[in-house]
Amino acid sequence: MMFNLNHPKTSQELERIIISAINSRVIRAGLLTTRDRDHALNVVRTTVVGAKKDLYHFTVASRRKWTQAQFKYEACGGGSQDPSELLRAAQNLRGGAVVVIEDLLATLCDTNGDRNARQQLSSMLSAEKGNDGTVIVFLEPPEAEGNIPSMLAGAFFRLNIPMPNREEVEALALREILAALTETGSPNMELAQEWSRELTPELTGLTRTAATYAIRDALALNKTDFPGARLYLQARKQTHLSEELAMNILDNDRDDELPLGLDNLYRHLQKNKDRIKETGKDRAKGILLIGPPGTGKTMLAKAAGRLLQLPVVEFRIGALMNSYLGATERRFDQAFQTLEAMAPNVVFIDEIEKAFSQNGSENDGGTMMRTTGRLLTWLSENPNPNFIVATSNNVSRMGELGMTMTRSGRFDKIFFVDVPSSSARKQMLTQWLKDVVADVESVASVVSEATSRFTGADLKAAVNEAASEAKYRQVEFNVDVIMKEVKKKDLRVQVLYESFASLRRFAELHCEPAGSFDEI
Ligand SMILES: Nc1ncnc2c1ncn2[C@@H]1O[C@H](COP(=O)(O)OP(=O)(O)O)[C@@H](O)[C@H]1O
Ligand SMILES: [Mg+2]
Repeated sequence: MMFNLNHPKTSQELERIIISAINSRVIRAGLLTTRDRDHALNVVRTTVVGAKKDLYHFTVASRRKWTQAQFKYEACGGGSQDPSELLRAAQNLRGGAVVVIEDLLATLCDTNGDRNARQQLSSMLSAEKGNDGTVIVFLEPPEAEGNIPSMLAGAFFRLNIPMPNREEVEALALREILAALTETGSPNMELAQEWSRELTPELTGLTRTAATYAIRDALALNKTDFPGARLYLQARKQTHLSEELAMNILDNDRDDELPLGLDNLYRHLQKNKDRIKETGKDRAKGILLIGPPGTGKTMLAKAAGRLLQLPVVEFRIGALMNSYLGATERRFDQAFQTLEAMAPNVVFIDEIEKAFSQNGSENDGGTMMRTTGRLLTWLSENPNPNFIVATSNNVSRMGELGMTMTRSGRFDKIFFVDVPSSSARKQMLTQWLKDVVADVESVASVVSEATSRFTGADLKAAVNEAASEAKYRQVEFNVDVIMKEVKKKDLRVQVLYESFASLRRFAELHCEPAGSFDEI
């Protein structure tokens, strides 16, 4: 029923530490990091019970002891806000016990932790003999690693229980679906296998506990409506991603939305199709698209998802940063781990320069630098197939850091996406107008000739506004109506085009053109 045995390594290592502590009659302490607390507690419990040792669970709220006979925890003393008190309680245990202490490490950290408690723990760990071999397990989220006091760094063991991978999620789904089908009286194994496979993509990126509840809720009302369950899980996952991690799954099922004129870029994707889905060092990591707004970069990210048949997950740096700063690093880490568990994906990072903004870097205690550092590290080290499509329209805002990023192999290629060439404009116009105007060929020619320096978005807006205007005035939708809207936009378009002159200069030196753009 439980998934404890999925982490034999963590379990074996913990058992080794327990026995070693007993052999040398010392206190050992270390960190068990996870996003999946319930699961981690299960792993610890089976290990400790298997080793026939006592298990305790301390928090600021309570001290409890596990009783195997009743299969539950029982109170064995009060909790405490004072870390020293909990540590003393652990020190006084006899008989080789294991104590799990949740969320205490922050109160011991170097920067603003409790110095006395830190020293107390240090002396507990350096005492030779005199104890029966107690093991203290600090149970924390992964980013707590940084809270280990430096004076204890060498003495601490480190264990981790990662987010569940695909196989684990599928096994978990199979278990739940079989249980549901059993209740209906027809535990059809084949059906359960088929649907656990189908539902797995909607459950990756969740912890084991969250995934278990999600699938139970999905089947709560109807235990055999699997298509309904899928829709429910999709919606639930979207909400979870957007509310907790500021990530969106972009709609990419519109076939007609292929950006036109970005042939080099599209060819690059097609050539690297297989390398993008690989795991490991040689996989294709991603592309950086530099260019003015409205030139089809977002469209391209979605098209990449379609081409590769992968979901496109938007990683919204700005939204993640705007959360209050202390939480930013934690949320970045959580977002990265979720993306790894969800891989393979296309990860769309719009306006990546936001991560490098110099604003506020002095008075936020360095959080900005640390999150930037984490992003850079993740971009180069993330081992799973998360193909990054990042964009920027402001290279100068990236500053020095951003420049190193563009050079240091974090992206396979940097493309410059400029305003469309006249032939690309003609293609766009033909596509948009073919069913709505007479003689589309000549309309597209005339309008594309008159719209040099227009972005795809400007052009699309002119066409849309002309269409509403024609409808409103109840006149024919023709070249004259469109040209009127084009003229209205022209000045603004020209000024905007000039404002990206320095970006174009940068691109000449550092980027490949995404398509064959006109010389203007
Ligand atoms: N190269 C293009 N091909 C076709 N349509 C385009 C192109 N560039 C822009 N558009 C139109 O403009 C809209 C906005 O483009 P978008 O991809 O959001 O630009 P960006 O992300 O570069 O700001 C698109 O939905 C599309 O209608
Ligand atoms: Mg965009």
